[in-house]
Amino acid sequence: MLNKNILIGVTGGIAAYKVVEVASRLKKLGANVRVMMTGSATEFVSPRTFQEITGNAVFVEMFGDAAHFHVAHVALADFADLVLIAPATANFLAKAAHGIADDLLTTTILASDKPLLIAPSMNTKMFLNPSTQENLRILKSRGVKILEPASGNLACGTVGKGRLPEPEEICAAVEKFFAPKILVGKKILVTAGGTIEAIDPVRYIGNRSSGRMGYEIAKSAANHGAEVVLISGKSELEPPDGLKFLKVESAVEMREKVLSEFDSVDAVIMSAAVADYRVKNISEQKIKKSAENLTLELVKNPDILRELGGLKKSQVLVGFAAETQNILDYANKKLVEKNLDFIVANDVTAEGAGFGVTTNIASIIWRGGKIETFPKMTKADLSEKIIERVADLLK
Ligand code: CTP
Repeated sequence: MLNKNILIGVTGGIAAYKVVEVASRLKKLGANVRVMMTGSATEFVSPRTFQEITGNAVFVEMFGDAAHFHVAHVALADFADLVLIAPATANFLAKAAHGIADDLLTTTILASDKPLLIAPSMNTKMFLNPSTQENLRILKSRGVKILEPASGNLACGTVGKGRLPEPEEICAAVEKFFAPKILVGKKILVTAGGTIEAIDPVRYIGNRSSGRMGYEIAKSAANHGAEVVLISGKSELEPPDGLKFLKVESAVEMREKVLSEFDSVDAVIMSAAVADYRVKNISEQKIKKSAENLTLELVKNPDILRELGGLKKSQVLVGFAAETQNILDYANKKLVEKNLDFIVANDVTAEGAGFGVTTNIASIIWRGGKIETFPKMTKADLSEKIIERVADLLK
């Protein structure tokens, strides 16, 4: 971040106060930060606060008196390596999507050809309104990065999607933007989520995987410049932007999709929780309740990763071992049997690891027996570790 020029645009949302912390953190990381605000934003935070934090004059008025910054909107646009708009109101999104320039901030955006990162924040209904969604779609289609709002209690007293992500998350997104692009020219296949195996048209056998680990890995690979294919089983998460996303249900379907991509990729990271068995005879009709006991006959699913281990030419292969006991032994066995380059092992029963949480506690086991043990960290941070290692292997 050292000496990176970041232009922050603050629009009139209650979450503007959080952006003071964002500016402060970015400054501490060594960035040059300049702030421009809309008139409404100044109702929530004083420009003086940003001025003190950044050490730079804050720009609000189109025809203001910041004399040293000639033709402010052009100069600001030229200054930036990255423009961050936070919080971005629905009104701002509408203007940005349609090229409306009626104040300094929107005029600067129009005059800028610099990368744009937008963190929307608003009432849930405003966020979900088709107009706002359409505006977001337009902006995304132009390559603008949107930082999805979080869900939670909103200032208007409702609960839902629309909260500005926490300052550390916004800063992490900015840091990612400047992260060295260590995977440019590489194609990475990531699998995520749990497969589901049908019993009848209504029921299925599933597992507790949320998909979060794999989605973070896919995002991290894309942030580092890779072309990414994410093949996902069941997951409630939003598909990340900027990658090829394929949704599947069963292990057999996942195998088909993985095999169809395999020859063209440089690495595969199999973080999906693939069901080991499927129902032998899927009932065409809903199974009705009758006898006291019901027996389902299961047959083994293909082991996708083992198959890739057999087919592997130059590809890097990474597996996961979600265990509940003898973690390193079991993981090591999988590493060898599936012909992997390394395997990420974790105890899914440990607090702060496993299914449905945002953190993980993992070890990486390498061919030859080297083991790296990591402390508890976010799945996003663990993804970075994994991607850095994959990039090293692909060098
Ligand atoms: N895997 C796979 N196909 C399967 C099962 C697992 O590709 N049918 C992959 C997983 O995505 C993971 C690795 O193999 O990267 C290990 O998965 P895991 O479920 O931990 O191990 P299994 O080989 O299924 O063995 P077990 O369930 O007995 O622990």
